[in-house]
This record gives sequence, structure tokens and C-alpha cells, in this order.
Amino acid sequence: MPRLAQTFLARFDQAPEGVWSAPGRVNLIGEHTDYNGGLALPIALPHRTRCAASVRDDDLLQIHSLQEDSFVEVRIYDVAAGHPAGWTAYVAGVLWALRKAGYAVRGLNVVVDGQVPLGAGLSSSAALECSVAAAASDLFGLGLLDSAEGRSVLAAACQRAENDIAGAPTGGMDQAAAMHATEKHALRLDCRDGATTQVPFDLSAHDLALLVTDTRASHALADGQYGARRDSCEKAADILGVEFLRDIDPAALDEALVQLPDDVLRRRTRHVVTEIARVDEVVDALRDGDLAEVGRLFLASHASLRDDYEVSCTELDLVVDTAVGEGALGARMTGGGFGGSAIALVAVADVERVSAAIAAAFAAAQLTAPKSFSVTAAGPAARD
Ligand code: GLA
Repeated sequence: MPRLAQTFLARFDQAPEGVWSAPGRVNLIGEHTDYNGGLALPIALPHRTRCAASVRDDDLLQIHSLQEDSFVEVRIYDVAAGHPAGWTAYVAGVLWALRKAGYAVRGLNVVVDGQVPLGAGLSSSAALECSVAAAASDLFGLGLLDSAEGRSVLAAACQRAENDIAGAPTGGMDQAAAMHATEKHALRLDCRDGATTQVPFDLSAHDLALLVTDTRASHALADGQYGARRDSCEKAADILGVEFLRDIDPAALDEALVQLPDDVLRRRTRHVVTEIARVDEVVDALRDGDLAEVGRLFLASHASLRDDYEVSCTELDLVVDTAVGEGALGARMTGGGFGGSAIALVAVADVERVSAAIAAAFAAAQLTAPKSFSVTAAGPAARD
């Protein structure tokens, strides 16, 4: 019996009714665009978080994790901002949000096994939320996994758990990726209307690999920097008289920028508007099989995030510069920034050499050893 089911049996004295799982993600491009009503292009990772679960007769949630030595018990009706605290907020918050959305949910016994690297900017929290949401949908007969609309409802509940219970003011990209991304495809996500398009993404046909490097530099989305970027975008949109920065036509960007009162707001706006435009340029380049152009756009995105949005850091820049110096077609930070992971587009034959060069550059700079691994586009939340 797998360790997850074994632990469940030992903890709850019964076998789980099922096991559900959901993936982490890397975003190919479209960073800090989701809360601006913009476009993003994530893929689901092969790394998944599993959730073994059974329904209870009461309104208690009993939550245990293979990775944490803690066992948390909370009543669904007691879940509120900051309660429970820590990682269990992502589990309890999902049940809370589904109940708020009008779905009849009760208590659950839950054991989770998180295989998405923690704190690496690869959306381990969204993977956890979405694995629990998938379990709840099936166990309470909600049927929300069966359609794209239903999956969007689950993704929205997961985002609400993160925003309102865990207190991280994130957009919805990570949860949408975990619910909608499919194998061998990138997900073009329109964050204004929630529309999704599957874009074929199979680098092996080009003898290329997507190398992810977890810099292991700490990042925390709940800290002030992410929220400060969001606030700047809302302020700029307000001054420009639009609902979202998405509404600024890239061709009219210069006219918009002169209306903004300071350089910080101008740079934040320039990043968002140019980054949204780069998403469809990458989609077109992928469809044309022009991977050199994809690499060029990755680099433009990184420069914009580093210089205009100011969310990169020494470690992320070092991965990008080293990978490119070693012949990568392009590289960029991925996710919220301030640490976390970077991605590089690398010839399959060069993966080990580029990974070793990144490790050597970190050692020379006396930084914590990074972890590099190549990934392919995997599938969405599902029952195992
Ligand atoms: C984090 C957030 C996402 C998104 C990215 C930046 O991953 O959770 O909502 O804003 O940062 O693109």
C-alpha cells in the first residue's frame, strides 16, 4: 500500500475514499499580469500534491501531512482570516470558500503528500488547494471537475482561500493552471474573462528542454512587496481611468505614461503593458515553431521584471545570465519573484552542462546551492 494510504489508515483507522492530486506550475511568460486582467501562459508541472480524503459525519476537518509533523483539527464554521494559520489554511480555506459559494460541504479527514518543492515559486500552495478542491468536488458530489466551467469555480474557491484565509493577495493564475493546464500544452489564460486556450507545447520535437532552477532564495508572497506591486498597478489604472492596465493599448503606451505622476508608476505600468503583449507573441512563436523568438521574448520579459517591475534578485539574475552565457535560447524568472525559480530554454544535449554551470556560478558567489531539473507540460487536478 502506498505511504499516503498507509498513513491515512494509521491516522483515521479507515482507508481513504480516494486520492486526488493537483500539479504545481511554471509560467512561461505573462508575469504579474493576472491581477491586471491580463494574459499568462503557464504549464502544469509533473510535480503534484496528493490528497487522500474521506467524508466525515460532522463539520470537523482533520488534516495531516506527510511532510509536516503536525495534525490540525478545525471546524469548518470556525475557519476565518488567519485561522487556521500556516499551511492548513490552504486546506481549510478551500472548504470555507466552497461553502461561501453555496456548496453543501461537510467535514473531511485529509492526509496530504506535497511533492511540489516548497517555497520555490512553483505554486505548491495552489497544488495543495486544488488537490483538496478536487477531492471535495467528488466526495460531496459537486461534479465540478467534469467541465471547464466547474473547474473555474474550483479555481476561484482556491484563490479565495489563498486571499481571504491565508492572507496572500495573489491573482488567479496558479489555481487556473492547476485546474485547466493539460499535458503537452501551455495554457493561454485570459485573466479578465477567465477564457483558456490550449497551446501545443512539446519542446522535445525541437530537441529542447525547459530547465527549471530553484534558486532556494527565500520568497514570501504574503510579505509587502507583492501587495505593493498590486497597489501600484491599481493606482496607475485609476489615474489612467481604466479598469485594468490590460486596457492600455500597447500602441498608446507612451501617451499613457506621460499621464502618470512618477517614475515608479511609469515603470510598473510599462512592464505590465509590454508583458501582456509578449504573451501572444510567445503563443504565435510557439505556433510557428520559432523557438529562438520564444527565447528572445523570455529575455525581454526578464529584463522588464528586473528593471521596470523590480521583482528579480541576485540569484534569479545569476541563473538567467549563466544560462544564456552557456548557450540557452532564453531564460527568465518565473512566478512572483524575490527568489523562487527561473526557467531556461536549453538544448537537450546541454542540460547537464548548463545545470553544472549554474551550480558553479552559485558556489563562486557563495550562494546556497540551487536545484535544477527539466520539466515537461503535465496534466491538471484529477482523481488518481
Ligand atoms: C504569484 C501569484 C500569481 C501571479 C504571479 C506573478 O505566483 O500567486 O497570482 O501574480 O505571482 O505572475
